[in-house]
Amino acid sequence: MLKKLLVFCALSAAMAALMLPQTSSVIAAPDGKAIYDAKCAACHQPSGQGMPGTFPPLAGNKDVTGDAKSVIAAVAKGKSGALTVAGTAYNSSMPAWRGQLSDAEIAAVVTYVRSAWGNKASAVTEKQVSAVK
Ligand code: HEC
Repeated sequence: MLKKLLVFCALSAAMAALMLPQTSSVIAAPDGKAIYDAKCAACHQPSGQGMPGTFPPLAGNKDVTGDAKSVIAAVAKGKSGALTVAGTAYNSSMPAWRGQLSDAEIAAVVTYVRSAWGNKASAVTEKQVSAVK
C-alpha cells in the first residue's frame, strides 16, 4: 500500500515537472525578436537596414517610429505602392501578416521593430492590433 503510494507520488512529481515548462511557455508573451528573425529578417534584414530600392529599412524609419496605427496596419494588412524612406524610393508589396500571425504576435513584432536598432517608439498592445480592421 505504502509502496504504491510512493510510486504514485513519484509519478505525479515527474509529470508535474514535465508539464511545468510547457505551461509557462504557453502563458509567456510572444517574443517579438524571435518572430522578427523568423518572419521578417529575410527581407528587412536582421539589423533592420533593409535592401535599398527593394525592401525598406525599418531601423531609423520615421513611418515605423511614427503613428502606431499605421505601422500596425502595414504589418497586419500588408502594404503596397510607392513609398519613400530616407530619400530612397520603393514600389513593391508586402503581403498581410494577419492570418499568419496572431494579433498578440503582431503586437510583439511591431513593438520589437519600434524599439530595436536605436528606434525609440512606444510599445503596441494586442488590443491596439485587434482594433485595426
Ligand atoms: C517578402 C519580403 C518581406 C517580408 C518577409 C516582410 N516585409 Fe515588410 N515590407 C516589404 C516590402 C517590399 C515593403 C514595402 C512595400 C511598398 O513598397 O509599399 C515592406 C514594408 C513594411 C513596413 C512599412 C514601412 C514603411 O516605411 O511604411 C513595415 C512596418 C514592415 N514592412 C514590417 C514588416 C514586419 C514586421 C515583417 C515581419 C512580420 C515584415 N515586414 C516582413 C517586404 C517584406
